Amino acid sequence: MSANPQTKRVLSGMRPTGRLHLGNYHGALKNWTDLQYQYECFFFVADWHALTTGYDDTSQLPKFTHEMLIDWLAAGLNPSVSTIFVQSLVPEHAELHLLLSMITPLGWLERVPTYKDQQSELAEKDLTTYGFLGYPLLQSADILLYRAAFVPVGEDQVAHVEVTREIARRFNHLFGRAPDFEEKAEHAIAVLGGRNSSMYRQLRKKYQESGDAGAIDKGRALVESNTRLTVADRERLLGYLEGSSVSILPEPQVLLTTSPRMPGLDGRKMSKSYGNTIGLREELDSVVKKLKTMTTDPARVRRTDPGDPEKCPVWDLHKIYSDAATQSWVQSGCRSASIGCLECKQPLIDKVVAEVGGMRERAREFEENPDLVRNIVSDGCEKARDAARATLDEVRRAMHLRFE
Ligand code: TRP
Ligand code: SF4
Repeated sequence: MSANPQTKRVLSGMRPTGRLHLGNYHGALKNWTDLQYQYECFFFVADWHALTTGYDDTSQLPKFTHEMLIDWLAAGLNPSVSTIFVQSLVPEHAELHLLLSMITPLGWLERVPTYKDQQSELAEKDLTTYGFLGYPLLQSADILLYRAAFVPVGEDQVAHVEVTREIARRFNHLFGRAPDFEEKAEHAIAVLGGRNSSMYRQLRKKYQESGDAGAIDKGRALVESNTRLTVADRERLLGYLEGSSVSILPEPQVLLTTSPRMPGLDGRKMSKSYGNTIGLREELDSVVKKLKTMTTDPARVRRTDPGDPEKCPVWDLHKIYSDAATQSWVQSGCRSASIGCLECKQPLIDKVVAEVGGMRERAREFEENPDLVRNIVSDGCEKARDAARATLDEVRRAMHLRFE
């Protein structure tokens, strides 16, 4: 898959929090399992990121990492198409982080919304550390190291990808200049051929004069779809669209995961810290029991009291798991009190049990044989390091850090 340079790269990471729950699955992981068949994907355990807020007790990291990896595999991440690895086993992340730290103004990091927010949310921890301030930059290094085109994340991470774009732009501006760049770019424009050459010039001019985002998108598409260009010329032309420097570190785009609201058993958002979760590999008896006792619309005290699905977290689950026919059965049955809550939950219980059952099934071989997981990660790390080294070679060259 990676042999085709046109295949765009996707990269995402997750902190090792131990066993995952259905909220994590429907909020991120399920999306990853779909993306792996459309793009060249890199997924990693962000263990250094976990240190930025949890440096006081690190003893659970190996266990949490292992458990999370099994959950990824159970959820359907496929190591023969995706590169699955652990951040701290690819030290190149640290090198790029260090180099980028030299050109990152403090103000950019202080302005990232999570900086102040998390400090007040996690007030019991001392987060006035260097590592915590630099956390979005570490994330930028994660992304830029693989020259990822797309980063699938939720709303809360969008600002981090935004900073990454700014850093990439700054890096390219500072280090992407080559003395003969313009000449080579002009030559590459000629390679595009006739109509495409003049189209490229027009789009470039339009973007540079008015910052027209449509123009740059069209320009990129024009360059990317051209099969006559060499890899170097393609990079050159992509960079030349925006300015007069090579795009050594391409700007990534967010692939926003629009996750449905996943309610926990008490109706609040499903979250480990609320203790209201259903685990990805939870025992099926326990899944059934939890769903049977899950909160419903409080207005339905007796079986004969009508209810309102909009006030019931079970309805949110139906929106995720049930087809249109079942959903309308819930709507009318609940409002007319013609079905009871247990009855309403039954199709859901069937769906969730099938889902969790499938994950338990897939997890078994990895639970029984931890070496399988270790091998997957060591293969993944090797692939990741190859890609990372290729970027770092160019970064070092551009920064004149190749003393020979
Ligand atoms: N910061 C992300 C989180 O806390 C995890 C993460 C680290 C990440 N590096 C990344 C996500 C790179 C996407 C890309 O959820
Ligand atoms: Fe909720 Fe269904 Fe009960 Fe209505 S019938 S309150 S939707 S569980």
